[in-house]
Amino acid sequence: MDKLVVHGGSTLRGAINISGSKNASLPILAAALLTEEDCIIRRVPDVSDTNYMIQIISALGADVERSSGTVRITCADIMDEAPYELVRRMRASVCVMGPLLARKGRCVVSLPGGCVIGDRPIDLHLRGFEALGAKIEFEGGNITLTAPDGLRGAEIDLRGTHGPTVLGTDNVMMAATLAEGITVIESAAAEPEVLDLANFLNSMGAKITGAGTRRIVIEGVKKLHGVEHTVIPDRIEAGTFMAAAALAGEGVTLHRVCRDHMKAITAAIELSGHRVEFNESGCSCTIHRGDVLQGVEITTAPYAGYPTDMQAQMTALLATTPGISVIKDTIFPQRFMHCAELKRMGADIKVDNGTAVVRGVAQLSAAPVMASDLRASAALVLAALTAKGSTEISRLYHIDRGYEHIDEKLLMLGANVERVKDR
Ligand code: EPZ
Repeated sequence: MDKLVVHGGSTLRGAINISGSKNASLPILAAALLTEEDCIIRRVPDVSDTNYMIQIISALGADVERSSGTVRITCADIMDEAPYELVRRMRASVCVMGPLLARKGRCVVSLPGGCVIGDRPIDLHLRGFEALGAKIEFEGGNITLTAPDGLRGAEIDLRGTHGPTVLGTDNVMMAATLAEGITVIESAAAEPEVLDLANFLNSMGAKITGAGTRRIVIEGVKKLHGVEHTVIPDRIEAGTFMAAAALAGEGVTLHRVCRDHMKAITAAIELSGHRVEFNESGCSCTIHRGDVLQGVEITTAPYAGYPTDMQAQMTALLATTPGISVIKDTIFPQRFMHCAELKRMGADIKVDNGTAVVRGVAQLSAAPVMASDLRASAALVLAALTAKGSTEISRLYHIDRGYEHIDEKLLMLGANVERVKDR
């Protein structure tokens, strides 16, 4: 296992490229199961989660080739049972359900286990599949979905206790592409990653309208064909580096971003006193550290609201921002594992009932800390950049799940970091 040693105090300068989106790539890789023809997907980030998804679809029988960010997938003949050993490693494996059910009329996938960021049921996914006519059985920790006569279009409301579901919308949308008739998804997730998947499916010959809004209409087709597609930029990776630049940078530039996808993140960083300057096309931005900083109030929400996947990183930024900040996570109310570790570094944070109250301190101090999940680990790296001394962040595998070569990118910006073996 690796750990990251961050020697605090360096000023970040220069420019980096943001990678393709992990959360768009995962369902798009699974969607290749819907056709027997070649799918070529570009800008797939080299992170453990995309590697897991590639292992799962290979285990299902797909022929996969990968060279740097381009993945070619051919699913000429596939099986309908995903191996537990692979599925248990990543929640997003549930994305294979929709394509397998639609293409094979049956799928067996293990029920996802617990998750440190909070309760993550898949009842909404199953509600959608049942409405499309699938029969659902549970046995031995597995779910078996069957629709021997194929799926039929239906009206489905995917509203949950915490709002719409991203992967649930993806899964039902993928299943409905080959269903008989029209499917309408109400209370759909409208994340840019959902729209990117719909664009991918439509280029395969699907008939989807309304993706990117709360109401998606899918007219089923008999067959889908091969496609070439380039994945959208990773707005969460971009947001993470935007926060790093606000914390420790001087005119850091991020290339290959998408301004429109980052409005809520940019607004929060600017509200705390920094300035984000996008170029005309909105594909690059430069972050200018502010002189007069202030605490802010943030409440996470489904897109286009403030993303829960940027909550931890913003907490780290606000830990040394003068004033009081209040951060409420409405999507994953328990997603505050990073706060205990930030407090070990001297942060003043009180967490209660899904809300963190942060009183900004002048500077954090280095301490050995432990990553608990993907975004929490990013928050610890950000905090360590300006902390006094050298911080050791263990369980680095969490950050490798979703950040492509983060240590190399930080080094390119002049941070003093080193990846070392954790004895
Ligand atoms: C996606 O997860 C992302 N993952 C998550 O990012 C992200 O945090 C989340 O959306 C919310 O934006 C990927 O895209 C691979 P949800 P997903 O279903 O789809 C509840 C990261 O850091 N819910 O939209 O699994 C659920 O408990 C990851 O990159 C139900 O109640 O999340 C949560 O409170 C972490 N029943 C809320 O809905 C269901 O059937 C939103 O979850 C499904 C979800």
